[in-house]
Amino acid sequence: MRLILVGPPGAGKGTQAVHLAAHYSIPHISTGDIFRANIKNSTELGKRAQAFMDKGELVPDSVTNGMVRERLKDADTQGGFLLDGYPRTVAQVAELDGMLSATPLDRVIELTADSDVVVRRLMERSIEQGRADDSEDVIRRRLEIYEEQTAPLTALYKSRGLLVQVDGLGSVEEVTARISAALNS
Ligand code: AP5
Repeated sequence: MRLILVGPPGAGKGTQAVHLAAHYSIPHISTGDIFRANIKNSTELGKRAQAFMDKGELVPDSVTNGMVRERLKDADTQGGFLLDGYPRTVAQVAELDGMLSATPLDRVIELTADSDVVVRRLMERSIEQGRADDSEDVIRRRLEIYEEQTAPLTALYKSRGLLVQVDGLGSVEEVTARISAALNS
């Protein structure tokens, strides 16, 4: 399976990706997680990404696309993968199309959730985990960027017949069951 998970911040992409990756035995590739690991390890890539992430802005394509291109060359992706948080712009879709020319995608899963719910979830996470970009103003900026730059991708993938939309509200288990049903239908 070659899958993409798309949805607003806090929709549950990372949470559901863990279940999906285990179910299909494919690697979970989260660009946000890769950036955070690089920031933690004070790498050059991390230093370039941090200022953008802290403000809720997208990391420039000059950093992000190459990182994904390299990751998709790894042997563990040959049997499939789950991309979480990439692509996020129409330009990134074009880049990914180039990377996958011989191995097309199977599905793009859009997790939907109201802004009020995702803000509440992320504010709770900020208390539990202290993630740097989970302050209320940065969450609002991430939501704006999602609406402006990422939401248009769903129409694009729908026109390719790849999009499945799944309601991200409810318990984690309920959402997992909905995704499974959508992928099996
Ligand atoms: P990224 O890490 O991808 O963050 P995000 O898209 O804002 O998403 P989140 O991780 O906040 O939410 P999620 O949908 O994964 O939900 P989660 O499962 O964690 O990106 C961070 C930054 O990196 C970007 O802002 C950008 O700067 C940069 N970046 C990343 N990719 C990039 C790209 N392609 N190009 C450029 N820049 C890029 O859940 C959230 C919370 O809700 C958790 O606490 C969870 O426990 C809880 N929760 C989940 N599901 C449920 C449920 N059903 N019920 C109740 N609580 C739930």
